[in-house]
Amino acid sequence: MIIDTHAHYDDKAFDEDRAELLQSMQGAGVGRIVNIGSSLGACKQTIQLMEKYDFVYGALGIHPTDSGELTESDIEWIKDNCTLDKCVAVGEIGLDYYWDEPDRAIQKKWFVCQLELAREVKLPVVIHSRDAAQDTVEIMKAEHAQDIGGVVHCYSYSKELAKTFLDMGFYFGIGGVVTFNNGRKLKEVVEYLPMDRIVLETDSPYLAPVPYRGKRNDSRKLTHVVEQIATIKGLTPEEIIQTTTQNAYNLYPKLK
Ligand code: NI
Repeated sequence: MIIDTHAHYDDKAFDEDRAELLQSMQGAGVGRIVNIGSSLGACKQTIQLMEKYDFVYGALGIHPTDSGELTESDIEWIKDNCTLDKCVAVGEIGLDYYWDEPDRAIQKKWFVCQLELAREVKLPVVIHSRDAAQDTVEIMKAEHAQDIGGVVHCYSYSKELAKTFLDMGFYFGIGGVVTFNNGRKLKEVVEYLPMDRIVLETDSPYLAPVPYRGKRNDSRKLTHVVEQIATIKGLTPEEIIQTTTQNAYNLYPKLK
């Protein structure tokens, strides 16, 4: 059974066929999906998906790009809903310097705030970090993220920096990028990572693996990511599925 540790089925890309698609997952070998909140609206839809489908779990949090309008009362709302049985993590949270907005100081403020929230509710975090390696590591160290735990989603940095996150006890979300022809850097990271720190993720509807690159992604396509990791690691696809599934349960202790 495959576990997709990071997907966005609330996205409007799924409005046409969401129910049909989700109902096909278990038949295709995808046993659990964690839908990740990004905005307040996405968090509300995540809760609806958790309630509707027994194999869908959720993470609640605000993506740095969506943190511009965030308020303390929104944080209180997230905190209250983290107590839901099927809310397994706080996320996705972090820093994204690819875009100029919101201001870096604002992104940092809400990243710190949501790390503290995760500590308070005793849930792991889902980290989003793009073009912001140094500040991400600095904040995680200052906030003692090693005591919170979690996953660096869609890991895009170097092998050298991977060691820093490994030392903090973090998992690595590996998805479609590992199948890309220009995904050499990530292939090297996957080769380097211990097998017990890798979890599978799609980031659906984004980052579909080859041969679907550029098309809408969904969790059934993870078999292509599994095959690529198996090749890199010299293991069988079945071994990759078994290990990453166990890792997903270790990463998200509330996932059953
Ligand atoms: Ni995401």
